Amino acid sequence: MPGYAFAMPRDSAIQMGSIMIQRATLIVSFTLVLASAAAVARQGPDGAAISSAHELATEAGAEILRQGGNAFDAAVAVSAALAVVEPESSGVGGGGFWLLHRSADDRSVMVDGRETAPAAATRDMYLDEQGEVDRDRAVNGALAGGIPGAPAAWVHIAETYGTLSLSELLAPAIRLAEEGFPVDAKYQALLNFRAHVMLRWPETAAIFMPGGDVPAIGDTIRQPDLANTLRTLAEQGRDGFYRGDVARKMVEGVQAAGGIWTLEDFADYEVVEREPVRTEYRGYELITAAPPSSGGIAIGQMLEIVEPFDLPGMSRADRVHVLAEAMRRAYRDRALYLGDPDFVDIPDGMLLSEHYAAGLRTTLRLDRATPSSMLAADPDRLGAESADTTHFSLIDSQGNMVSATLTVNLPFGAAYAPPGTGVLVNNEMDDFSAKPGEPNAYGLIGFSANAIEPHKRMLSSMSPTIVVGDDRTAVLGTPGGSRIITMVLLGVLDFIEGNGPESWVSLPRFHHQYLPDEISVEPDALTDEEIAALEEKGHTVTVRNRTWGNMHGVMWNRRTGDLEAAHDPRWNSGGAVVIELEH
Ligand code: GLY
Repeated sequence: MPGYAFAMPRDSAIQMGSIMIQRATLIVSFTLVLASAAAVARQGPDGAAISSAHELATEAGAEILRQGGNAFDAAVAVSAALAVVEPESSGVGGGGFWLLHRSADDRSVMVDGRETAPAAATRDMYLDEQGEVDRDRAVNGALAGGIPGAPAAWVHIAETYGTLSLSELLAPAIRLAEEGFPVDAKYQALLNFRAHVMLRWPETAAIFMPGGDVPAIGDTIRQPDLANTLRTLAEQGRDGFYRGDVARKMVEGVQAAGGIWTLEDFADYEVVEREPVRTEYRGYELITAAPPSSGGIAIGQMLEIVEPFDLPGMSRADRVHVLAEAMRRAYRDRALYLGDPDFVDIPDGMLLSEHYAAGLRTTLRLDRATPSSMLAADPDRLGAESADTTHFSLIDSQGNMVSATLTVNLPFGAAYAPPGTGVLVNNEMDDFSAKPGEPNAYGLIGFSANAIEPHKRMLSSMSPTIVVGDDRTAVLGTPGGSRIITMVLLGVLDFIEGNGPESWVSLPRFHHQYLPDEISVEPDALTDEEIAALEEKGHTVTVRNRTWGNMHGVMWNRRTGDLEAAHDPRWNSGGAVVIELEH
């Protein structure tokens, strides 16, 4: 039996010893994985590490690794388990990006399981008779869903990169769906946000809010229909979801509730393998998300802009200023240029070039904020996307790595599950621009690059990332809508400045996204003096009354073989584990 080291919230982090920790239903033994004193290059880490948003999903991945599965097998198991125990954030009815690194041939690839617009989708499908966006139809119920990509991605990863059968990989998720899982504070909080919508569909509400009420913490949620859907997928592979009985129930349920999905949409859905975005920063290589994520290009561009600055040597206010100015410029370009690369020509070479960054830097003054209105944007090309999502990071003992960010968009997606499937429909269509210049659920506007077109993938901010230095490797990512990109940027810089995952996931966060023209900060992220210094430079600083994100990271010290894993302390439901395996 391997030992586990669950990363605890920072204030309760346990550094050594062998103790018993009870968290929710899981009792695990904690074993510190000892660092080897010998600083020698190694083939793989001393064991494996997983950090996900739910300890039962982390345990599902650990179970697969114990059975001899590799990181890619474990990634399928973790993804499927998250779809069951964290339905507010991702699911069978959603999509995501799985960034894989295979150690045997040093190959990195992004498996793009992003949802697509159905064939009957039209540019103006969410506009009412007055030409205004009908926000209700855009995010609530059957019309809000893109064609799901997650099940196709799981099958693709298992068949192309895994070693175990799909049945073995989905077994933990099927068990969790049948036996149930305990409601935690995050499930409860996010259901409170969406319950009034879910109650429109009593069959859906009966699954996630038994008796019609938001469940108490510790109540058990069982999902027998979802277990059957997963079992069909396990037995029949891709066709088990995209053709046959499950597809028919999904499509009929969506059409009956006012949606436009067809069986052809399901049969036509394709996963795409994409080359990740690769950039360098101060001797570190970043391998990160490619379009239709906006994240990789924006992160690369921000790092190019800030590279000449001595960020560690700056005051906190100056550091926030420089980073916010880089964020402002990268988000302007994100809005101008980024969309589905199969529909839009993206000038990635320009956006990631040092010459382009140098040009942007010439307008960056250390003493003054640049008003966003002074940075030209062609309003015909602004882009949009939104939030609630999940992320996990893992490394196996061979050095294979997975950084995966998955989503159904808003909490519990469209809040509607076609009868008999247990599958929540995503509301990812709101990541398109429903009308030029009209804000989406997160106040973001968009234009033609991200307009709705049949079969097109909606622009995303999901930014699964791997950073490779001379002797340390980081795997990280987070949910958080448009803020994902800046959270990952801050985490990458923290890693490069020498810190480990417990630090990256706990960082106080600030964010600028071009419009609105403000630095948005978490409570207590900046002192009153730091805020005053930023205002002095001309920034508007808005202190939010809540934190954001849910970062999960693992780190491998390739000289010592040591692994570290940590989950974000903002939510107390994550599971971060270092697993000691026999060599
Ligand atoms: N739905 C969130 C994103 O893809 O960025």
